[in-house]
Amino acid sequence: MGEVMEHEFCAVYLSGTGNTKFCVSRLLKLLDEGAPCVAIEDMVASSTVAAHEKIVLGYPVQYSNAPKLVRDFILQNMELWRGKRVLCLATMGAFSGDGAGCAARLLKKCGAKILGGLHLKMPDSVCDSKLLEKSGEEKRDLIRRAEEKIGHVAEGIKGGKYPRDGLGFFAHIAGLFGQRLWFYGKTRKYCDKLKIDGARCVGCGVCARLCPMKNLTVEGGVAVPHGKCTMCYRCISRCPQRAITLVGKEVVEQYRAEEFVGE
Ligand SMILES: Cc1cc2nc3c(=O)[nH]c(=O)nc-3n(C[C@H](O)[C@H](O)[C@H](O)COP(=O)(O)O)c2cc1C
Ligand code: SF4
Ligand code: SF4
Repeated sequence: MGEVMEHEFCAVYLSGTGNTKFCVSRLLKLLDEGAPCVAIEDMVASSTVAAHEKIVLGYPVQYSNAPKLVRDFILQNMELWRGKRVLCLATMGAFSGDGAGCAARLLKKCGAKILGGLHLKMPDSVCDSKLLEKSGEEKRDLIRRAEEKIGHVAEGIKGGKYPRDGLGFFAHIAGLFGQRLWFYGKTRKYCDKLKIDGARCVGCGVCARLCPMKNLTVEGGVAVPHGKCTMCYRCISRCPQRAITLVGKEVVEQYRAEEFVGE
């Protein structure tokens, strides 16, 4: 316990394909090296929040909203947030008016103080849509720019200035009318649209081991989804048989941040 309290900051994040994990850990390293940085599905996520004063909460934007798992984590641990000071960090492939604001508003309802909001553009995790395909160079460039922004933001925070991405009134309107209103049905509940191609699946169980929702099991040699997917794309980006799809019908090119950041 003494060791945990040494740090002012901690971070809790959801990351399907590694973008958010990369961004959150980079920022935390610059702000408070060695501070705990835990995945939201980790059993110690809530006790880590409880033990710290300042929290970076990171997640990927989905249809200009925070993922259902992140919203549930906030609301199911309401009492945890009272008096905490939170920086909401949202990663995105293209656009999110108020990606950081979505969690910030819920956290405020739980009694947290919002330190700031940070938006970072990263390669798209949706790898089963041709429309979102980018070259390796474009992906590296996005990551390099995000790293630069993280560096500037960390300097600002050390000087007491937090970023305000996605927190203002106009950001809220942009997120709401830009996407959330039209696509709210997609993030309202856990998703039951994950598709497994039984002809491709070899029942290796990689997806079941990785899923933060424990949404997949292998039955009779084939993976079976159970309708509580938080759309993180982790299984889709890792299945060795490219047997899993969600938004599209076929995996175009699996994406994992670690292959582009060299970590
Ligand atoms: C279901 C889904 C919906 C998404 N919606 C958006 C969106 O509305 N706007 C956007 O800019 N990116 C969107 N993205 C892209 C991700 O937010 C982005 O790639 C993010 O950095 C992935 O982070 P991760 O690697 O930590 O999972 C979406 C991704 C998924 C899987
Ligand atoms: S990772 Fe792919 S091949 Fe392995 S069980 Fe899951 S769907 Fe099947
Ligand atoms: S089923 Fe796949 S996409 Fe859905 S939450 Fe689990 S790992 Fe993520």
